[in-house]
Amino acid sequence: MTRLVIVSNRLSLPGSSTQAGGLAVAMREALKERGGLWFGWSGETAEEPDAAPRLVSKGNVTYAAVDLTPDEHRLYYLGFANGTLWPLLHLRLGLMEYRREAARAYGEVNRRFAAMLAPLLRPDDLIWVHDYHLFPLGEELRKLGVKSRIGFFLHTPFPPAEILIALPRHEALLASLSFYDLVGMQTEDCVRAFLHCIVDVAGGVEQADGVYEVRGQTGRVAAFPIGIDTEGFMSLAQRAEHSAETRRLDESLAGRPLVLGIDRLDYSKGIPQRFDAMDALLTDWPEHRRQFNYLQITPHSRGEVAQYRALRREIEGLAGRVNGKFAEFDWSPIRYLNRSFSRPTLAGFLRRSRIGLVTPLRDGMNLVAKEFVAAQNPQDPGVLVLSRFAGAARELTTALLVNPIDIDATAAALHRGLIMPREERIERWSAMMTIIQRNTIDTWRSDFLATLAATPLAGAQPPLRLSA
Ligand code: G6P
Repeated sequence: MTRLVIVSNRLSLPGSSTQAGGLAVAMREALKERGGLWFGWSGETAEEPDAAPRLVSKGNVTYAAVDLTPDEHRLYYLGFANGTLWPLLHLRLGLMEYRREAARAYGEVNRRFAAMLAPLLRPDDLIWVHDYHLFPLGEELRKLGVKSRIGFFLHTPFPPAEILIALPRHEALLASLSFYDLVGMQTEDCVRAFLHCIVDVAGGVEQADGVYEVRGQTGRVAAFPIGIDTEGFMSLAQRAEHSAETRRLDESLAGRPLVLGIDRLDYSKGIPQRFDAMDALLTDWPEHRRQFNYLQITPHSRGEVAQYRALRREIEGLAGRVNGKFAEFDWSPIRYLNRSFSRPTLAGFLRRSRIGLVTPLRDGMNLVAKEFVAAQNPQDPGVLVLSRFAGAARELTTALLVNPIDIDATAAALHRGLIMPREERIERWSAMMTIIQRNTIDTWRSDFLATLAATPLAGAQPPLRLSA
């Protein structure tokens, strides 16, 4: 079997505590069965990083960890990846910053990663690059003569052409993607947006089956909605139901249903709108006061980026306002926590919750939505209140789908979820469970890799000419 090489900015080294964010967890699970090499940023900075990656082997996986310099961290990771690309990809142009210095550092880090990865590669490796930090990595590897198949998967949404063109030098970004043999997106909507950009913005030509040609390069794009280890998470949640933490949570709830949100502190997650929806729920349906608890678990993320600091202040202010308005001496509507918890603890909390509140303004997929479904007790499942702007809404169509901008609609969905009869909860949950049992992290990985393996080598060979 060919070796799988995964490249992502965020690397989760063995023994390190779980990183916030679904990508690292998904990569770990994707590598579990098949093994391979995982190359990425160590999470550390060093004034003078080693010239070669640090190699650590555990089980069937070898980790290759690279440090960033403080300048690279500031300009590539905080600056271009998270200050420019992240808001762009989540349609938040008002939050987007652009500095040439950061764009340059982004290109340089991609070049340096490629130069450090290339010596570790074998000719028959299947290389799989992940997420927006590494758009140009495939092109850089090709420049170094790497001829293996290289695939790319974007975990975030892909924006429509009118948004993408706000990025200076967006043509280069689009062209760099055509050096991959296969580009994977979370949804068909993203595939369409991408092809539209290729044709309308980059002047490329769309062929059949997601194949396109741009600047003499032939590429292919398709949707591969990411899943979770559904069976694994189900049993984790079952086991965690009786853990000390879940019991403590239970005691504090005193029989009241739990509404649970778990998100990185990020403006794409719609947390202020959620707190406003709590306010609307308690105003419009006063019968729910003191009758449920809402726990919002929100670990800090990218705290050095100004927009994230501002968001943190905004959310803290809102939580204080809503609690000040509705709290009583023995109850408060919002329990807002800024720390992260282990996966087993979160699994137990998810199993215990009556409502999973997942209302991002934009999200590539949102794996918490799928984990909520997997964690439920089949005899008495909870209700998923899900933003229609999460990729997961394309699959989990029997959730209560909401537009998170419409605060009153979210409040109404919460009300409906709190009073929903058990039969309806079971019916909605069963339909979602069937889907996440079919589309798992394993099917995602094997579908992508099988399609990549079957794709004619485009980047490494003279461009494949397809008739129009
Ligand atoms: C999102 C991104 C990932 C990223 C994760 C955590 O899920 O798509 O690429 O790893 O957030 O963010 P961080 O900046 O901490 O890696």
